[in-house]
Amino acid sequence: MGHLSPELRSRAERMVALYPERRSALIPLCHLAQGQDGYLTEEAMEEVAELCGVSPAEVRGTASFYDMLHTEPVGRYVFAICTNIACMLAGAYEVLDHATERLGIHLGQTTEDGLFTLEEAECLAGCDRAVCVQVNHRFFGPIDEEGFDQLADDLAAGRLDETVPPHGVLNRVVRKVGLEASRRKDSTISRNPQSAGDPPVGPAAAKPEASGPSQSEAS
Ligand code: FES
Repeated sequence: MGHLSPELRSRAERMVALYPERRSALIPLCHLAQGQDGYLTEEAMEEVAELCGVSPAEVRGTASFYDMLHTEPVGRYVFAICTNIACMLAGAYEVLDHATERLGIHLGQTTEDGLFTLEEAECLAGCDRAVCVQVNHRFFGPIDEEGFDQLADDLAAGRLDETVPPHGVLNRVVRKVGLEASRRKDSTISRNPQSAGDPPVGPAAAKPEASGPSQSEAS
């Protein structure tokens, strides 16, 4: 019995089939698994590894490199407060200090009730709304100390449930049509020797535009 739900397992297999190389689906599959559990569990990383034909260590090594992926449990809501130049000049460190006091945790920690995790972020490309804060990768700003309290209150009360799903959920709508890998039993497409054990995939999967499964499957 796998760790991913039957539905996610099915989606994962379809996503893998979009790529000429199974390992190319590693990051989209990490996001898929993170959407189920809120972070990448050991079991999930093992299943992603099996699906991608790589080792669990490779999955962990890749996932731990990217800020958007978490290999340890996080809160339902992950605050990422930008402290780069535009936000710093607008008072980001004051907001950050206030956030640690308000939540009673340090950077990288999660509140005891499992509701909030606090992180410091590099530029979030939301400089026009400095101080910019992301919650589960949704943008908010400009945020000051008072605005942070309001945001935390609204999240805790569920008033932003429509806007901010639990951590790990990138989007709630899954596209059902469009990009699909076609499989042909008689496929003669030459493949990289590294992936000799991969299932055959058809020409559609080899097209350049087929390189964005995360968008087709997860948007
Ligand atoms: S400097 Fe904060 S979003 Fe760019």
